Amino acid sequence: MAIERTFSIIKPDATKRNLTGAINAVIEKAGLRIVAQKRVKWSNAQAEAFYGVHKERPFFKDLVSFMISGPVVVQVLEGENAVAKYRDVMGATNPANAAPGTIRKEFAESIEANSVHGSDSADNAKIEIGQNFTDAEIVG
Ligand code: CMP
Repeated sequence: MAIERTFSIIKPDATKRNLTGAINAVIEKAGLRIVAQKRVKWSNAQAEAFYGVHKERPFFKDLVSFMISGPVVVQVLEGENAVAKYRDVMGATNPANAAPGTIRKEFAESIEANSVHGSDSADNAKIEIGQNFTDAEIVG
């Protein structure tokens, strides 16, 4: 498996509780490298665009409100099999179902306030990275 990149968000519930460093420690311990990172506040339009695929879902409005409720830390992670590896490191979407040692088991508050997002495929990783970073901002 070649080196690949995935897109990550540390969500407002985690930035609010000052957990950016603790989450980054789990990411780095898993062997993923943080090759781009910035702390930003999303607009309503940015959050709606990012989660556009979920537009018809009943939780869409609440999800957008949550994602603009505070700062997010957007990241590009690089490593062997990075997309699948980061999904393992994050744990299940609902922290109630997440395995011990995963970010969501350790830190998430609920299925909505679940501390982190990670791309679900290499194709979506490319799209999500492109929405949030220029090539010059990514330093491998
Ligand atoms: P994420 O991986 O960022 O992708 C979509 C997000 O929607 C998900 O994590 C959750 O934070 C949020 N969400 C809120 N409610 C639900 C739900 N019922 N099912 C799936 N995702 C949900």
